[in-house]
Amino acid sequence: MRHLDSLFRLQLNEIEEIFRISADLKSRWNQGSRPRLLDGRVVTLLFEKPSLRTRLSFETAIAHLGGSSLFLSCAEAGLTGREKISDVARVIGGYSDWIVMRVFSHRLVDDFVAYAECPIINGLSDQGHPCQALTDLFTMQEEFDDLKGRTLVFVGDGNNVARSLAVACAQLGVNFVLSAPVGYELPQKFLDTLQRKLGGVKPQLVRDPAEAVKQADVIYTDVWASMGQEAEQEKRKQVFAPYQVNAKLMSLAPAHAKFMHCLPAKRGMEVTDDVIDSPASICFPQAENRMHVSKGILLWMLGTDPVGASDE
Ligand code: CP
Ligand code: NVA
Repeated sequence: MRHLDSLFRLQLNEIEEIFRISADLKSRWNQGSRPRLLDGRVVTLLFEKPSLRTRLSFETAIAHLGGSSLFLSCAEAGLTGREKISDVARVIGGYSDWIVMRVFSHRLVDDFVAYAECPIINGLSDQGHPCQALTDLFTMQEEFDDLKGRTLVFVGDGNNVARSLAVACAQLGVNFVLSAPVGYELPQKFLDTLQRKLGGVKPQLVRDPAEAVKQADVIYTDVWASMGQEAEQEKRKQVFAPYQVNAKLMSLAPAHAKFMHCLPAKRGMEVTDDVIDSPASICFPQAENRMHVSKGILLWMLGTDPVGASDE
């Protein structure tokens, strides 16, 4: 059974396969084709936090392919004390072809992998956001064709998104540079795991964003305070102020550099309007790609290859 609880599960050839399926379905969707490859299949979305892109990308992906989705909050599912977690996992797993989870603690994802007996997709936890990072590298590949040797500079918090990007970059031969203030780097335990599992070029830490962006093909940022860190918002605003991606910072990057953001963005904080709305910004095609890559992920997990499949 294939899970996508963490990108560490994937081999390079599996990522390439997900990208190939996603690209094939994207071009067919653009031509108006909606092959019913997931007829009768059900994806259950189990969310503890708000979501626009992750929820809708999976719901629209499966709808286009002839399947259906069920959405419920963790509270509605009874995960706040009504039942034992393992019992809830086994029941939902019995009804579903996949479960997409968005949770505060990654431990809940691990529990579902252990008990649900159906493929589990991490739709964001404190540890990572694998579907986002796959989409981001897929989007970069569309932009640059060959990913090898490109450089993604993440300006901001070494958070869940940064961690998944660091893994995806290592898998695909992209240099990952983090520019973060003291205390907000990628955790050492994560770096050790990355080194142990993937080896190769290590993520670079360049404290000064002006210095970091000089080598960027992509400048990426995310919110300074993630969901669940609202109490730290004011403190983080001070700490991250020198890390804002604004026109001045973009002007220090190579002219071809693109701007990316997983969204939602706090405009005027981590990014200014003149950057996110500029021609260099590819964050809206990036957001649309969440849907195309969700299709790739769902099909790859089932072992279904759509290439050559009929549109009927
Ligand atoms: N990027 C992303 O995961 O967006 P949502 O929080 O809206 O799902
Ligand atoms: N780091 C952000 C990403 C949102 C998609 C968060 O966890 O809230």
